[in-house]
Amino acid sequence: MKVAVLGTGYVGLSTGVCLAEIGHEVVCIDVDERKIDLLKEGKSPIYEPRLEELLIKNSTEGRLAFTTFHQQGLREADIIIIAVGTPQSDDGRADLSYLEQAAKDLAEHIVRDCVVVVKSTVPVGTNEYVKQLLLGQLKSNVEIKMVSNPEFLRQGSAIEDTLKADRIIIGSDDVSASEKIQEMYRPLNVPFLLTDVRSAEIIKYASNAFLATKISFINAIANLCEAAGADVEDVAKGMGFDKRVGSAFLNAGIGYGGSCFPKDVKALLHTSRELGVPFSLLEETISINEHQQELLVDKALKRFGTLNGKKIAMLGLSFKPNTDDMREAPSIKIARSLTASGAEVAAFDPVAASNARKVIGDIITYVDSAVEAAKDADALFVVTEWEEFKQHDVAALLDVMKQPIIFDGRNCLDEAALKACKTIEYYPVGRPAVILKGND
Ligand code: UDX
Repeated sequence: MKVAVLGTGYVGLSTGVCLAEIGHEVVCIDVDERKIDLLKEGKSPIYEPRLEELLIKNSTEGRLAFTTFHQQGLREADIIIIAVGTPQSDDGRADLSYLEQAAKDLAEHIVRDCVVVVKSTVPVGTNEYVKQLLLGQLKSNVEIKMVSNPEFLRQGSAIEDTLKADRIIIGSDDVSASEKIQEMYRPLNVPFLLTDVRSAEIIKYASNAFLATKISFINAIANLCEAAGADVEDVAKGMGFDKRVGSAFLNAGIGYGGSCFPKDVKALLHTSRELGVPFSLLEETISINEHQQELLVDKALKRFGTLNGKKIAMLGLSFKPNTDDMREAPSIKIARSLTASGAEVAAFDPVAASNARKVIGDIITYVDSAVEAAKDADALFVVTEWEEFKQHDVAALLDVMKQPIIFDGRNCLDEAALKACKTIEYYPVGRPAVILKGND
């Protein structure tokens, strides 16, 4: 099949590459010339495991192309997938301006009957809105059918999540359009859920809001465990054995970030207000998360009395491991709070430092290794659970620190290794602290 993908962000690029990988002829279109030039050279503008490898393979084998020209990209497409961003507006609503521009560009250049798929995360009713926009501006006399097809890929495993998805949601009020999209995805051998457009739109927000709520729930339980002297890891394990609860997304920590959960919870809350349906559970999800992002700084303040003049090492900046994405990363709030309290911060992240600098700026120092960050530090904050931090020799970090104090915001350091250290103060989230004072 001939597929055009509009937008080469995380979703568009992963989708385009994977559709080429399963045999379709794909053209990815973006207005950003710099990005398209990079992609033409076989370079991925984002850090994502396997993305570049599949990008090069499918481009070389002639199934994947990139262009800034809509006309060229859309000329032969049977299916057009819109995967442009829908960022958060100031009032929490999803900003649809990229989508509106995409509809305008499509209307201008579509020259044959086709199915238009909205993959961008959009509030309920948007597919209908896009269809009206398209129909109102079409330049050629063609038939357009709409399909809502939200995605559920995670950053850091976008390719894996696309090729081995749990389900593919196809929302359409037109049987032939729905069948065409099923045919496109059939080689993936993933279960389909066929539904109407509005339900498909809501499934995406409901899934993300549910997962975010699960995280806030376990974080609230973690705080309770801390106060009660219990261990949230065991509590989560005990809960997770129950299939109705499930063990995934019960890792307590310093809250969720990223390009989806924060904005999608807020957008769903906005929709519920617009529709006059109270949904205060979502307000609580957001407020627990905001509080959780302050947790490490609060704990350090409690431990030291003041952070003025203290040297803090931050391990990890990205919102989660295996990505250089800094969107809504808890590290942003932590870095700002620490420096506002007079602390000096040295941060290390395996890949996110340059993106972090764009957001956090030079109020903190960016260094090249965990040991360099830890040098002379009064405390170490583990902010992102990168594998290399989990594997790191904790003793080597403590050796160079001024004080052997660790606040682990992701409960990811190896407890046996910590307990083997003679002198340490280790504060995880929702678990008992490990405090050893020279016990030889
Ligand atoms: C998420 C959804 O998982 C995905 O389906 C959707 O398409 C986009 O949003 P992503 O943002 O890439 O994906 O990351 P995810 O792995 O889900 O983590 C989101 C945030 O939640 C991260 O900040 C992570 O640290 C946090 N998290 C996740 C927890 O704090 N605890 C957990 O148990 C799981």
